[in-house]
Amino acid sequence: MAKAIIIFESKYGNTRTAAQAIAEGMNQVAGVEAFLTEPRDVDLNRLGVFDAVLLGSPNHMGGATRGIKKFIDNLGKSGLGGKPAAVFDTYLAKDFEKAVKKMEKQLGEKAPGLKLVAPGLSLKVKGMKGPLAEGELARCVEFGTGIATLMKERA
Ligand SMILES: Cc1cc2nc3c(=O)[nH]c(=O)nc-3n(C[C@H](O)[C@H](O)[C@H](O)COP(=O)(O)O)c2cc1C
Repeated sequence: MAKAIIIFESKYGNTRTAAQAIAEGMNQVAGVEAFLTEPRDVDLNRLGVFDAVLLGSPNHMGGATRGIKKFIDNLGKSGLGGKPAAVFDTYLAKDFEKAVKKMEKQLGEKAPGLKLVAPGLSLKVKGMKGPLAEGELARCVEFGTGIATLMKERA
């Protein structure tokens, strides 16, 4: 079984809902299993058992949360080199793709061994506390299925 870990933060629950829908999409692909967790619960020394890593964050002040940024800073030590990675964010108003672009840049600098296999997924929320805009959950499922399919092709 190929295993993916989806590591996210979420203040109001929308990024969590997105992470769950991505996991659902990944789990639809036979032979792939997705696990959800938050940065504080991750032991970097044990990340090597996963075959792919996904990172999700709400857009806070134009970028990822402090917790996710700190996590990416340390990710290079995790033994995930060469493995597939992808990021997603939730945003309000006009900050489409702003946080995912910054996360991708930071990943390139701090964990250059990881291989970004899909463009970052940026998901609109309708208000500060959500909910996600119409159609966004379907995009999450599709994103998950696509990455899981790539993981299987690599296996
Ligand atoms: C402290 C804070 C700063 C935020 N700054 C931005 C911002 O700069 N741009 C933006 O599009 N949304 C911003 N938002 C809105 C969040 O992106 C939105 O609350 C989030 O997508 C909801 O996700 P969550 O339910 O997972 O917390 C901000 C929210 C908070 C709490």
